[in-house]
Amino acid sequence: SAPGFSPAVVIGTGYGAAVTALRLGEAGIPTLMLEMGQLWDTPAADGRIFCDMLNPDARSMWLKDRTEMPLASFLWFGINRDIERYTGVLDRVHYGDMSVYLGRGVGGGSLVNGAMAVTPSRSYFEEILPGVDADEMYGTYFPRANAELGVNHIRPEWFETCQAYKYARVSRKHAEKAGFATTFVPSVYDFGYMEREEAGEVPRSALGSEVIFGNNHGKRSLDKSYLAAALGTGNVTIRTLREVRGISRRSDGTYALTVRRLGTDGSVLGTTEIGTRYLFLGAGSIGSTELLLRARDTGTLPLLGEEVGRGWGPNGNVMFGRANHMWDPTGSTQSGMPALGIDAWADQSVFAEVAPAPAGTETWLSLYLAITRNPERGHFTYDAASDSARLHWTAEQGKPSIDAAKAVFDEINRVNGTIYRYDLFGDTRAFENRFTYHPLGGLVLGAATDGYGRVREYPNLYVTDGSLIPGSTGVNPFVTITALAERNIERILAEDL
Ligand code: FDA
Repeated sequence: SAPGFSPAVVIGTGYGAAVTALRLGEAGIPTLMLEMGQLWDTPAADGRIFCDMLNPDARSMWLKDRTEMPLASFLWFGINRDIERYTGVLDRVHYGDMSVYLGRGVGGGSLVNGAMAVTPSRSYFEEILPGVDADEMYGTYFPRANAELGVNHIRPEWFETCQAYKYARVSRKHAEKAGFATTFVPSVYDFGYMEREEAGEVPRSALGSEVIFGNNHGKRSLDKSYLAAALGTGNVTIRTLREVRGISRRSDGTYALTVRRLGTDGSVLGTTEIGTRYLFLGAGSIGSTELLLRARDTGTLPLLGEEVGRGWGPNGNVMFGRANHMWDPTGSTQSGMPALGIDAWADQSVFAEVAPAPAGTETWLSLYLAITRNPERGHFTYDAASDSARLHWTAEQGKPSIDAAKAVFDEINRVNGTIYRYDLFGDTRAFENRFTYHPLGGLVLGAATDGYGRVREYPNLYVTDGSLIPGSTGVNPFVTITALAERNIERILAEDL
């Protein structure tokens, strides 16, 4: 095809994007992926691709002068540090009362996330996406997603004895004493590798405080699963440090993309135009929503409707810690990959992952990231002055999440004679709900798009990622995003291409 034209373009390289590119490539369709982050495959001078949480450097964050960790402090001592401004792997995007953590690079969120690979309960899935055939999802697409992602399970005997999950066993004991059930969490981190880490046979990653800034070993991130398979078809090309800024439609019905070429210091090295017939948005809830809002409100895709930018939620995320008794240490080596959750979803609408605090030293901290049922939704508007999307979400809207988590954990504290930690979030609050790891919505399935992610007003324009899900999945979301993308691209390939 002509230079500057690709029959299909996928924006982004996260879950939705990677699924879509693989299936397009398998169908023989030449496909170009445009990713604003880097390809993380080359060791730096220290021999490692990624830095760990205890020694963050320029690689840690996307164009920041200082790290912005989820736990701002221990005993009120700040743990963030100055870094060189660089196209690092973790971004934190700020909007008023809410900030959103995002992965940047080939693999998107899979590079930085905790690898928890959870299929939602069928009843809740049916509630949030009533238009999607649940028989098909649970019969075909969830199994397909689990297989392609390489989801695996911890060996229960090992869990009971290893040092690395002492922190999870302590939390389990406290939860069970209060009558709450716990469950193992499937993962795309290779638990066999983790066992060899603890045995001292292989370099440490999960057990070496590697999480949120990337894992040098053990994790089956998308570059090792879907994207490797996509490249293997011979029909998929990935271009990195390419940020799509604008989308318009030409008179022949093809799309024109305005693409910035970025330097690793964030500078814009140049701007090019790329044309395509089939355009798939996989830039994530924040990225894809912003692209369509900008296109609508600057008039390059003027027919886009009112639903663009609506139905956003943080998956009810709230983080908090409990202070343990002296006789309940949680261990100085903690696996950065969670393996256990407290499942109070059915009665109290709380699924709390037992999160690590891999500080490399004893902290007597039990940390949790709870996913709660919160019916509040935010929305985005386009801000012309900054040429970006603005999220409308207030602290008040996060309150149902805190109330739900508090109901469960007040009881756990009461029964165990423990208290919350008040030193973790930079002030004295116990519950932090001003950030999310799980942005969802903005281009909701069946609202901004049809039932398969097709943008209604524009033929051959599709949404593939977390922006399709209306604000909540009740569990960690990447398996849902992956399975939904599998379902949608199968239909689109059969009917549209
Ligand atoms: P995703 O965000 O993965 O990918 C979007 C990609 O598009 C990115 O690579 C981005 O750089 C790129 N992009 C954006 N705008 C662009 C533009 N204009 N031009 C070019 N490229 C652009 N989930 C889970 O299920 N289990 C877990 O354990 C965790 N843990 C976790 C920890 C942390 C720290 C984070 C930040 C997130 C998680 N998550 C998680 C959430 C999970 O990672 C997230 O839901 C998915 O990555 C979202 O997948 P998407 O396909 O929607 O986009």
